[in-house]
Amino acid sequence: MNEKSDIMVSDMMEKIRGDLILPKKAYFFDTTLRDGEQTPGISFALKEKISIAQSLNALGIDVIEAGFPVISPGDFEACKEISKLGLDSEIIGLARIKKVDIDKVIEADMDSIHVFIATSDLHLKEKLKMTREEVLNSVIELISYAKEHYSEIEFSAEDATRTDLDYLIKVNQAAVESGATRINIPDTVGTISPTAYGYIVRKNYESLPKDVRIAVHCHNDFGLGVANTIAGFENGASEAQTTILGLGERTGNASFEETAMSLYALYRIPMNINTRLIFPTAKLVESLCGGKITIGRLTPLIGQNAFAHESGIHAHAMIQHARAYEPITPELIGIKRTDNVEDIIKQSIKLGKHTGGHALKAKLEDLGIHTSDDQFSNIMGHVKAFGDKGHEVKEEDFFAILKDVIGELPEEDQFVKLEELTVLTGSITPTSTVRLKIDDNGNSIIKVASSIGVGPVDASVNAIIKCFEPMSKIKLLNYQIDAITGGTEALGHSTIEIMDIESNHIVKASATHEDIVMSSVLSLLKGLNKLLRFKKKNASKN
Ligand code: KIV
Ligand code: ZN
Repeated sequence: MNEKSDIMVSDMMEKIRGDLILPKKAYFFDTTLRDGEQTPGISFALKEKISIAQSLNALGIDVIEAGFPVISPGDFEACKEISKLGLDSEIIGLARIKKVDIDKVIEADMDSIHVFIATSDLHLKEKLKMTREEVLNSVIELISYAKEHYSEIEFSAEDATRTDLDYLIKVNQAAVESGATRINIPDTVGTISPTAYGYIVRKNYESLPKDVRIAVHCHNDFGLGVANTIAGFENGASEAQTTILGLGERTGNASFEETAMSLYALYRIPMNINTRLIFPTAKLVESLCGGKITIGRLTPLIGQNAFAHESGIHAHAMIQHARAYEPITPELIGIKRTDNVEDIIKQSIKLGKHTGGHALKAKLEDLGIHTSDDQFSNIMGHVKAFGDKGHEVKEEDFFAILKDVIGELPEEDQFVKLEELTVLTGSITPTSTVRLKIDDNGNSIIKVASSIGVGPVDASVNAIIKCFEPMSKIKLLNYQIDAITGGTEALGHSTIEIMDIESNHIVKASATHEDIVMSSVLSLLKGLNKLLRFKKKNASKN
């Protein structure tokens, strides 16, 4: 076992190092704004692209592919605006091996250029209607042209993994001789296994000058995007082309989160990435996908279950050593959790049929609830019965069980209370005014704010966030409303996810009401109370 306490991976990772061609440093080329935006259904507004680029820069991404400027005026503008931001990350633009494309990247004043042309016989015959010789000549001619403007040139032979290997190497060598400084080997249609991809990367690595950086770009059609990227790194690659959340054409590209953490934690390759910003960046991109792409519960490292445990055996072992069932600390990837053992249990253990005594005890202690032995086993019985029926024991279910078994429950501290809500809607701009009573370090203050919005819910949420702003800057990451009964009098169940910008702490809360504006407002207030409880608790610990 590696003794570094925030990471514990298999010893075998150390033993196999000698057999691999690992780089001294891993570089990250992020293509969320280009290949990621090619995800069916996803398109980012200029303002959103700028905020993603700024977050990628803060994260430590080496190269940001801001877009493909020739494809639309919007992409051109985004490339130009992002280039103007003066970020530390290199801003690169995509271009086909065509003068008109290269000129657009130059016009957008980008730091560097990424040129590509397909090289597989299938693409040559069916798409480009060109011979191998013609493709080779255009690579030489247009990279030489791009070199007149750029010192950094990245070249991609599209569909490289279905290209004849000797021809691929020949094209890549010609690209380098004409001025390319980085060679990318795209698995454009995700049609290869890790071993075979590693072989192609190694052959290219052995055939190209050692100062040429080899990049890997793997699509996820068979779910092998990350595995193939890693195989590339074991065979001479030093740059990963990835996207946040694995966005990209069809089923996406290799996810940045999984690739970066694997290279960092499993292979210990130095990199410029601030791993603690991985989760907040993923949440930001998720929120900008407008509900079309969401982080799955089982998504490695950043999904809701990544640091959650239901089994009693796991929970008990976690108390002795959190690495027993977690390879890394959640903090390492930017998920806030204190190292306090009780907190670990409270925050990460989900109740269900596998719940053990330690987990339940810790959960009850956290709520300040004392039970007799009989009550304890009664509660345990209910939790297991619930789980046996195939249900997850959600917070509200657990409270219902507690109420059933022990009667009234102690009220949790309410730091924010709604005093009044007025909403104007109809054929006018929806406007909401809220009056909140806020407990500011023991002083009760009244805050009133009004705001407009695209609808009454948006206006009310904006007004509450405005009231709250002087105390904490909050970002709404996700909002969802579902009708839980049918008809026009249906109950609305809203769930919100908010982040405290200062601490990156994220909370989720939900509420039900027959009025959807009220259910949204109540869920937001519940979330704000949760956030404040977390902040107070952390402040008292420090
Ligand atoms: O998948 C691919 O081949 C690409 C290239 C433009 C690098 O996205
Ligand atoms: Zn791609």
